[in-house]
Amino acid sequence: MKGVILAGGTGTRLYPLTRLINKHLLPVGSHPMVCYGIERLRQAGITDILMVIGKQSAGLYTDFLGSGENFGVKLTYRIQESAGGIAEALDLAGGFISPGEKFVVLLGDNLFLDDLTPYVEKFKQQPPGSARVMLKPVDDPRRYGVPVFDHDDPELIAYIEEKPKKPKSKYSVTGIYMYDDAVFEVIRGISRSARGELEITDVNNKYAKEGKLEYDVLKLWWGDAGTLESLHEAGIHMKGVLP
Ligand code: DAU
Repeated sequence: MKGVILAGGTGTRLYPLTRLINKHLLPVGSHPMVCYGIERLRQAGITDILMVIGKQSAGLYTDFLGSGENFGVKLTYRIQESAGGIAEALDLAGGFISPGEKFVVLLGDNLFLDDLTPYVEKFKQQPPGSARVMLKPVDDPRRYGVPVFDHDDPELIAYIEEKPKKPKSKYSVTGIYMYDDAVFEVIRGISRSARGELEITDVNNKYAKEGKLEYDVLKLWWGDAGTLESLHEAGIHMKGVLP
């Protein structure tokens, strides 16, 4: 199984820090943010990893991460030219994933303590063309994609609302997604949102509509480091996680 880390985007919520350096290279604990996602994939036995990065700081990524050898993984890089959305960044993985192959996607600003191995193993048992997402109960779901569960089969997500004003559950859909190559056909079927982006929630809702979106709930701490407060909080939780 392969892995994809999405580290494009502009990180405007972290200006002026991200005017100097790309968000995913900012320090979290003792390491640049991106190191934690690489380690979570490696821990789950996923060592063939595509990094989707923006043009900003591209040289710093290769300077720091190189081939991935020092991190126990093999890295390939693709550049997302402009921040056209998470699903647009994911689409760049098209040539990296073989026909019928399953893979795990991490948003580069998502930091978490769970080992993904048991969830990846469950996903391996799922039928082709289905998907799996990881959820986490949060204090303020309005900041995230929020799942609404299927009445008849609570093992399935009926649909996801992106940043709803009145969330219908207490969960966030985290930036940990599992797909196979069928996702690229799904991405071709969605349109740009009002903010001009290809939204990952629209992709996941295509699976949900067909009853093909399963989930697990993370047990340990999870956060996204997209704002100054959450970046600070992540630094506290991730301290000491990497040697
Ligand atoms: O953190 C989880 C949340 O991430 C989910 O609950 C939401 O459903 C999902 O839409 C997303 O929401 P955000 O508003 O936090 O996404 P953001 O635009 O901050 O992007 C998160 C990461 O995705 C970012 O660190 C890098 C990657 N990304 C994003 C964009 C817009 C790209 O690689 N390219 C892009 O164009």
